[in-house]
Amino acid sequence: MAPLAKVGGLGDVVTGLARAHSLAGHNVEVVLPFYSSLAPSDIENLTHVMDFGVPKGREKEWDGVKTMENFTVQTAMYTGKIDGCDVILLKPASTENSNIFVGNKIYGGSYNELEAYLYFCRASLEMLRATGRDPNVIHVHEWQCSAVAMLYWDVYHAEGMLHNAKVMLTIHNMDNTGECRQEEFIATGVQGESFNTLEKAMDERTIGHNPERMCLLKGAIVYSNFVTTVSPTYAADALRGGGGFLAKTLMASRGKFMGVLNGVDEKLWDARLDPYLPASFAPGRMEGKAICKRYLQEGLGLEVSDEKPLVVCVSRLVPQKGIHLIDHAIKRTKAQGGQFVLLGSGHSDPPFQAMAENEFKDDPDVRLLIFYSDPLSHLMYAAADMVLVPSMFEPCGLTQMIAMEYGALPVVRKTGGLADTVFDVDDGSIPEERKNGFVFEGGDERSLDDALDRGIEYCQERKEWWASMQEKVMKSDNSWERAGAEYERLYRAMQSAM
Ligand code: ADP
Ligand code: GLC
Repeated sequence: MAPLAKVGGLGDVVTGLARAHSLAGHNVEVVLPFYSSLAPSDIENLTHVMDFGVPKGREKEWDGVKTMENFTVQTAMYTGKIDGCDVILLKPASTENSNIFVGNKIYGGSYNELEAYLYFCRASLEMLRATGRDPNVIHVHEWQCSAVAMLYWDVYHAEGMLHNAKVMLTIHNMDNTGECRQEEFIATGVQGESFNTLEKAMDERTIGHNPERMCLLKGAIVYSNFVTTVSPTYAADALRGGGGFLAKTLMASRGKFMGVLNGVDEKLWDARLDPYLPASFAPGRMEGKAICKRYLQEGLGLEVSDEKPLVVCVSRLVPQKGIHLIDHAIKRTKAQGGQFVLLGSGHSDPPFQAMAENEFKDDPDVRLLIFYSDPLSHLMYAAADMVLVPSMFEPCGLTQMIAMEYGALPVVRKTGGLADTVFDVDDGSIPEERKNGFVFEGGDERSLDDALDRGIEYCQERKEWWASMQEKVMKSDNSWERAGAEYERLYRAMQSAM
């Protein structure tokens, strides 16, 4: 949940959607693990509300014999606010479970992620029961929260404990499906054999999925009242097979599946009021953007120049993001007379860290920053002339939309949500008012060059046109108001369906 518990776009979405619904007058509470990386002092009005017991189980092996052990985890519930949105934080109290949600990262830390999130799903539902909450909508995200949909209908609703809720699942990335051995599901306190039977039945209609395992995301697709993913193009691609072994499950569920394009949270990303910028700016008063560019160039020891087009890329460095194209774009931008700054988190080939320390050490035009920094990302969008997003696939993508909020033109590969949000300035088939960036289709370097070279050239040669494009993209509506209203319509449709 941005800005405090975030590794990528999911964090932005949770905050943006919660805020949009709150502003529309709904009572929204975001339930999240009390990750050890969340500093209590950062949570507004942090209050310990109660402790309650959460059923849990674990597989034990003794002398080669496997047994199931059941126990209860004392869990502490806190309420508070993150960036003005109401949150409920859950934290296991007992030492035995102190290894979960611990680590210096939000995920991928030292704990067992599967066990941690299965427990979290059960704890969330127990929290609703223990506090007498009976919401109208439970909206879960990704495989990490998928067991909520399964347990809600099989345990809580079936036993008459929670009555009102309909459950929505949003899938942000079909590459992460949450594979789980049957025995591991016991971390929810429930054996889950009924789900396993269901999985086997589903497997007859699916390809390439390991029949020994449960797929949590698939379980949630089956159990949820409605399923969304984060852009119409990614949804359509998924139904055509892009979702891998989920395609058939999605086909079977297509009456309750659609793509809803994410928005950008305009409070988190606002060039007029951004506390991380040395100067603010807005359409009609763009001097502040030039100040941000110089401030970044100076701060990073780059040549300070208004003339050199500045291309930035803010990305997790994973194959999805088109790492080979990022690598190529760095060199191409420099060769074309521009500057390139990469803010990348995670390690992947090519070894950007080594490039940063050798090839581009003290380079006047290139900086490769291999770490995660929310404040620096804000400054980079504000300073940039262009933001590069050369993804191999992209369920939605937020950086191209954040770029527009800060008057930077996106350079993107045409896939998923990028295809739904960026329209090439030179594409004659696109109405003039929609044109907002540079788009390429292939996954190879030449395709990228075509878009990147045009961007660099236009930025240098067509100054007036560029300035008008900057103002145009800043004025375009990528807000959560639109997407929030769409979700509200879907919630109401779920409510009124049987
Ligand atoms: P994904 O969720 O697949 O990573 P998105 O484009 O949806 O991609 O969202 C990425 C979000 O994470 C954006 O808010 C972006 O600014 C942020 N981000 C990505 N990498 C970094 C980084 N190294 N440092 C700071 N913010 C980052
Ligand atoms: C995932 C996707 C990204 C999307 C984000 C928020 O991380 O990779 O495309 O924008 O979720 O929905």
